[in-house]
Amino acid sequence: MSLASNLGLRKQLNIVGQFFHNRLAGRPTAVTIEITKRCNATCDFCPYWEADEVEEVKDFTPAIKYFKPIWVSITGGEPLLRKDVVEIARKIRDLPGFRFISIYSNGWLLNERLVGELTEAGVSNIQVSCNFPDERQDQERGIPGLYKKISTFMPEMVRKGYGANLTVGTFLCQENLDSVIDLAHVVRGWGINHSFSSYSRLKNDNHAHELPAEYIPKARKVVEELVNLRRTHKNILVSEEYLQTIPEFSAKGQLPGCTAGDKFIYIDQQGYIKQCPELPAVAHISKLEEYQSEAVSCGLCWYACRGEHQSSISPRRVREWLE
Ligand SMILES: C[S@@+](CC[C@H](N)C(=O)[O-])C[C@H]1O[C@@H](n2cnc3c(N)ncnc32)[C@H](O)[C@@H]1O
Ligand code: SF4
Ligand code: SF4
Repeated sequence: MSLASNLGLRKQLNIVGQFFHNRLAGRPTAVTIEITKRCNATCDFCPYWEADEVEEVKDFTPAIKYFKPIWVSITGGEPLLRKDVVEIARKIRDLPGFRFISIYSNGWLLNERLVGELTEAGVSNIQVSCNFPDERQDQERGIPGLYKKISTFMPEMVRKGYGANLTVGTFLCQENLDSVIDLAHVVRGWGINHSFSSYSRLKNDNHAHELPAEYIPKARKVVEELVNLRRTHKNILVSEEYLQTIPEFSAKGQLPGCTAGDKFIYIDQQGYIKQCPELPAVAHISKLEEYQSEAVSCGLCWYACRGEHQSSISPRRVREWLE
């Protein structure tokens, strides 16, 4: 089930219209706000948890009003560490117009009250990271008990009626290639939507989790199986085109055509606007009119946020998105 399929036909058509309007106006359709860099995990592929504490922006709405995106993602660091996370979402929801609001979390701080409050505040998708169907998830994040928490909490939330608001997010890497199909079945068994992305070394130059050449044939098989599961189970949210390009990206190490800054942008916890999470700041939320997208020559990641935005807009893509 895609996120858009929960909406009525009229809203779906409005969103499609707004999507093409932003594209024609050269305005990003997706804005991601990294509301904090603080984190309760210690992943070895992400340096955010090591960052110094800084003063964090309280109100991101000027940027949302300015860019008018269709998708707003609230991320971090661990966004649930911010006491005002619900308030941040609510203020964005209360702006005129409609937009999808998602939040990304490692899941440790989630509880039923927070799921209810975030849902009430307009968040239609709470994405919980999970790369393994077992305790390797605890080791990866440095949080003992994390997999147990995720694997009991998610089905419990489905039973309580929040299933459509939750997603599991998995990135493909060397360590989980053999377990990803099992994980897909587990997540399907919980009754939850599943999103996929692919590993990037760029956050802290850690090559250890990349897919080396000898893993590529296996990656192709895994991806084909995910595509088949996507067709039968209908709970895999990323497009076939995105999935099928993961092995090609891993084999080549880079792919051209990134639309960072043009179709999607990032705003960090201090209000600095970046074309993508790995590029330097080019403007600040206090001077939005100074933002200008520059063509990027980098092709070094295949994050879903990158890959999905450069997929061709074909009738199949629109159908995939709405079905
Ligand atoms: C930066 S995290 C922030 C939200 C939250 N702390 C979490 O981990 O879910 C956002 C997403 O990026 C993913 N991520 C972090 N480092 C990554 C890397 N080096 N390559 C690919 N994805 C990465 C995480 O697994 C998560 O799904
Ligand atoms: S990936 Fe998420 S959970 Fe891991 S350190 Fe980075 S922000 Fe924290
Ligand atoms: S390919 Fe694009 S999104 Fe990825 S790191 Fe480079 S500029 Fe950023």
